[in-house]
This record gives sequence, structure tokens and C-alpha cells, in this order.
Amino acid sequence: MKYIVANFKMNPGKQEDIEAWLGEFQRSWSVKEAVKSRVRVVLCPPFVWLPSLQQAARSSKQRAFLLGAQDVFWERNGPYTGEISSVMLREVGCEYAIVGHSERRALGETDEIVNKKIKAAFQAGLKVILAVGEVNRADESGTVEREVGQALEKQIFGALAGIPRTKLGNLLVAYEPLWAVGSGIADTPEDALKAALFIRKCVAKITGARARAHDIPVLYGGSVTSKNAASFLQEEALNGVLVGNASLNPREFFKIVEMGFRF
Ligand code: PGA
Repeated sequence: MKYIVANFKMNPGKQEDIEAWLGEFQRSWSVKEAVKSRVRVVLCPPFVWLPSLQQAARSSKQRAFLLGAQDVFWERNGPYTGEISSVMLREVGCEYAIVGHSERRALGETDEIVNKKIKAAFQAGLKVILAVGEVNRADESGTVEREVGQALEKQIFGALAGIPRTKLGNLLVAYEPLWAVGSGIADTPEDALKAALFIRKCVAKITGARARAHDIPVLYGGSVTSKNAASFLQEEALNGVLVGNASLNPREFFKIVEMGFRF
């Protein structure tokens, strides 16, 4: 199973544009109905477009895609102006939530906050796509490589602190090095693979069971396009891609989805 996740970020700005995206995507999808079960497509639009996509997901016989949120708040309801709870997200058809995206961490989100969000999301029955990644690219001296390990370890242990092992079946991890997100420079599949193995080792330390950690899907994200997606998707230990900028063009995104069918 390969996951192809679209993170639209704060796009598009208009209802007609999200409808046009959807129309284009669904026209492409019907061609591939026969093989769709090998690929799980998750669309993560801004909150306001979730109801439109929910309606489309419901009316589509092929159940072409699942819905995800780009963030979630940790309380169920109450005096939290501007926030959206996991219970609300379930109401509008979300099955997934991205938590800990680097663009949210850049706005002040800490590992403690990420941890609270994951707990709330699991409680409401959402699957969590936990985004982790280092700031600087590893160099040959190995100095930064050590930092990569430290950053991932800190983020994973912080994010999963106190979460019962039994819940981890609802966890996916997206390895998204910051230097690759939105930069047009993707990581190499080899390094993404190393990071995926390291991430599973960290999770194994928490679960105490290698086998269970091995089952956790790890995705790569950061400047994925239709040109480089296959190199990540062909790796057995990488379970998919998280696509930002390239997902805004439905044809480009569908090309990536099609690549998922191949592996
Ligand atoms: P990008 O974004 O594909 O535009 O680099 C990835 C992400 O932010 O999830």
C-alpha cells in the first residue's frame, strides 16, 4: 500500500478553484479504477474546503480519496477562539490529520503541543500523519548527520510521550526535512530511506517491539514532483509521499498517484 497525501497548505483561495481541482482529479481517476486499491489518496485542504470535498467523497462511487486536516487542536470544544477540534474534523469526514508540520513548528508549535494534538486526534479516532524533519542538510563530515538523528529522535520521543502502544496502529510518520520543504530541492531516496529506518528504530524504542515499529508507514515529503516521486515510491521501506506545492495542480498530482500504482 502506498499513501499519496496532498497538503494544499493555504490554497486555493476560492470555492470555484477547489471545485475545478476536484473535477479534474476525478476525471483522471475513473481511468484507473481497477488498480486504485493499491494506493490510498488523502487530500488535506484548508479547513474551509473540507465540507465541499466531503460531499464529493461521499457522492463518488469509487471512493477515490480520503480526507485529512492540516492541523488539529487538542481540546474537544470550549473557549478556544479560532481553533478546530478533532471531533469537528470527524464530523466533516476527516480520517487523517497532519500534526507537527514544519510550517506550524515555525509558528511556535513545540513537541509538547504536538504530543497533546496527537493524543486528542487518536482519542477522536483520527489517524495521525506526524511530520518530523531536521533543519539542515546532512554533510559528508557526519556532523550534521548526527544532528539529523538528534532532531528526529527528539521530535518523535516528544510527540509520542505517554501515548499507549496500542494506539500506534493509527500513526503514520512523514519524514520532511525542512531544507527540502518548498525549496524545490528534494532529498535523495537513499537518505530518505536512512531516515525512515532511523524513525522506525526510534518508534521501536517506544513500543519495545521491532515488528510493530516496522509496520508504521513512513512517507517522504519535501519538493516531491511527478519527476522525482517514482524514485521514492519504488523504495519498499517508504510507504508513500506527502506532496505540497505539486498537489495544487490536479494533473501533476494525479501523475504522482499513478506512479503509486506501479509499486
Ligand atoms: P512541498 O511541501 O512539496 O511544497 O515541498 C511538502 C509539505 O509541506 O508537506
